Formats: sequence, C-alpha cells, structure tokens
Amino acid sequence: MAVPLLQVHDLAKSFRGVQALQDYRLELGHRELIGVIGPNGAGKTTLFNVLTGVAPATRGRIVFNGQDITRATPDAICRAGIARTFQNIRLFRRLSVLDNVRIGLQAHGRNRLHEVVLRLPGFATQERRLEQQARELLDMLDLAEYAGVQADTLPYGLQRRLEIAIALATRPKLLLLDEPAAGMNPAEAEALMRLIARLHGEHELTIILIEHNMRVVMGVCQRIQVLNYGRLIAEGSPEAIQQDPRVLEAYLGVAA
Ligand SMILES: Nc1ncnc2c1ncn2[C@@H]1O[C@H](COP(=O)(O)OP(=O)(O)O)[C@@H](O)[C@H]1O
Ligand SMILES: [Mg+2]
Repeated sequence: MAVPLLQVHDLAKSFRGVQALQDYRLELGHRELIGVIGPNGAGKTTLFNVLTGVAPATRGRIVFNGQDITRATPDAICRAGIARTFQNIRLFRRLSVLDNVRIGLQAHGRNRLHEVVLRLPGFATQERRLEQQARELLDMLDLAEYAGVQADTLPYGLQRRLEIAIALATRPKLLLLDEPAAGMNPAEAEALMRLIARLHGEHELTIILIEHNMRVVMGVCQRIQVLNYGRLIAEGSPEAIQQDPRVLEAYLGVAA
C-alpha cells in the first residue's frame, strides 16, 4: 500500500480535565475525502485545532507527508501543506473579495517582505503575480465576477466559498473544512457539494470534511468517522454509517 498522506496515532487533547478528544486515529491516503460527523461537543473542531497546531496534542502522534508535525507550529504546519476553514466565517469583512484572497496568498510568505516594504523593483512584478494568482483562485471557485465586491456584502453561501478560496491560497495538500454548509440554504448546500467534489476530483486535494448536513456528507464522502464525547464510535462507508446502531444512538440519544 502507498504511504498515507496523514497518519494519526492515539491522539488525545484535554482542556483542564475535559477530554475533548481521546484514542483518535486516522490513516488518510492521498486524494481521499473523509467525513467526520458527531453531535455538538463531540470533539470535531478540536481535532482540526490539534491537526493545525493551534491546540497542541496532549498525547499521540501526527505524521503528515512523512514529517512528524505533532509539535510543529501552526505556521510550519501550514507550510507543510495543511489548510483549513473555520466553523465561524473569518474574513476581512470590509475588504474586497480579491483583496481577501491576495492577503491569503501574502500571509504565507509567497511575497518577499523586504521587497514590499522597500518597494524594490521586484515589487511591481510580485504584485502583478499575486493579483493573477488571486484571480485564478477566484475563477476556480466561480467567484471571479465578485472580485471587486466588499466581502461582507456577499451572500452567505459565497462568503463560505471565499473562505475556501483563501484556504486554497496556501496551496495545501490537505484541506480541512469545518462545517462549510452551516447556515446554507438547500441550493447553496447543493452548490457547495458540487464544489467539494470538483476540488477533490480535479485538483487532487485530500479533504477532511466536518459537516452536520447529512446530505452533503453522505453525498461526497468515501468514508466517514463518527465522534461522540471525544471518542471514535464508528467508521465506515456512508451506507454502513447510516445503519450503525451506535451512530443512531449517539444522534437520537436512545438505543436503536
Ligand atoms: N479551547 C477550549 N478550552 C476549553 N474547552 C474546550 C476548548 N475547545 C473545545 N473545548 C471543549 O471540548 C469539547 C469538544 O468541543 P469541539 O471540538 O468544539 O466540539 P465539536 O466541534 O464537535 O462541536 C467540548 O466539551 C468543548 O467545550
Ligand atoms: Mg465544531
């Protein structure tokens, strides 16, 4: 078998006695698309926080692309190729759609700071390249026509899409999506589903999708993990997960 892109062993995270995540494990192959579901408070966002170095693991080991990133900083993890979106949208609300993506590109060291500060000859070229890259990303996410629009005036579904564009600006190998369909109407969720499938299929991305919208999860994921009270209680195909009594019990709170 090929070497997995991501290997997570025996991962745990506690916050002052609260076990947010425990005994978590995952082997994720290149170009896999896995879903992570579970009731509120199950530890899903914590998993992303640990994987991205924002909330360092209490125990366990994370190996990404052959590199041990368990104790790496968020910046190093980003450079290694992991990007994420947030459960609550984080955008520069007053800036244009294009500038949001431009900042995303800049924030990750693709521009040499001294050239920007000193306005060296390289600067204008850099700026043009940056703008072009930003426009390409907007194109890819069908946001090109909104380039000049102020971010917070975009319809909600498109703001979510813009967040994905910003995450992709870092050219990740692994994209972590935290409830991207939250708050979307059915049409927006449908469009998001198609987008995720396209990113996965055409752009060779590996994706972990946290999502409450079951239509979206079941529609795009190849494999699903279920968390409850910080523990993995089930893992399998969408079909198997939908019939798993432990999953029904976790969601409905009753023995199925
Ligand atoms: N920074 C934190 N400090 C203290 N407790 C936290 C923190 N982040 C998460 N938790 C706790 O960890 C548990 C899992 O939360 P979370 O990962 O946000 O769940 P989910 O995303 O599945 O809804 C919850 O009990 C939550 O209160
Ligand atoms: Mg969450």
